[in-house]
Amino acid sequence: MFAIERLEELDFTLDDLPRCRRPGRVLVADPAHFDLEYAINPHMRDERGELKRVDRPRARAQWQALVDALVASGLEVDVLPALEGQPDLVFCANQALPVAADVAPDGIARVVPSRMAHAERRGEVAHVIAALERLGYRVDSPTDAAPMEGMGDGLWHPGRRLLWAGVGPRSSREAWREIAQRYRVPTILLELVDPDFYHLDTALALLDEDACLWLPEALAPQSRELVRALFPRAVEADPEEARARLACNAFCADGKRVFLDAGAQRTAQRLQRAGFTPLSLDTGEFLKSGGSVFCMKLLHGPV
Ligand code: ARG
Repeated sequence: MFAIERLEELDFTLDDLPRCRRPGRVLVADPAHFDLEYAINPHMRDERGELKRVDRPRARAQWQALVDALVASGLEVDVLPALEGQPDLVFCANQALPVAADVAPDGIARVVPSRMAHAERRGEVAHVIAALERLGYRVDSPTDAAPMEGMGDGLWHPGRRLLWAGVGPRSSREAWREIAQRYRVPTILLELVDPDFYHLDTALALLDEDACLWLPEALAPQSRELVRALFPRAVEADPEEARARLACNAFCADGKRVFLDAGAQRTAQRLQRAGFTPLSLDTGEFLKSGGSVFCMKLLHGPV
């Protein structure tokens, strides 16, 4: 009853949903061990089928520039120490789904540990959960159904009590139905249909209460209808940039400034025409692993 998958099931408008605060805190993970040691998404191999190679000093500099930009934009930033043997930890949007205090039905901020689709990443979860516990979250049980990759697929609507949830290679429909039921939170399930867009955050960025950036063709037709129904301002990313530069893996904390990869200039222009201020950051080393601005941090709060 809380999960919606087709337009016919949508029985509310945004105005009907309780308001909640926009989170003001982000967790980032030190990239000391960031590397490509395995391939679990199509971005990680080159045309010859070989693992792409990371320039570690360059990756460190790109990560630091991102952190500096997050701090400069007024967000509170906590840094999670690196973990040996976990080259993907830097993508710390994926290991947990925080449920903010003003979203949880009992007013207590919770965190749901992810159930990673790939064994290679399972060792990251406890590390991220422990950090969130220290920040004041109560740790709830993982979903019975798997997989479920936290805020890679679960995106909180800015300012309203609503969850957008990607169903695809990294998160299952059943897991999201459990979350929706458990926290009694309206949840819109969107089906991902293209392997390059393997997390919802590669196909959709929620910018403001009425605005998003997205790539329609990465979603099933019935899912597109739901995005169009709830976002009067849906900015379409340049399709090539969405694939090669993960232009939709963008991040907007305040409804105005949008961080996105510097290679996504056509998308940045579209955002500008729609009234946003695009801020370019080079995430080239992280794109090799299939991630960019949005998934290199976990947006959370209030606790
Ligand atoms: N190499 C990582 C993986 O495939 C990248 C994760 C990027 N995260 C994201 N939410 N898009 O799991």
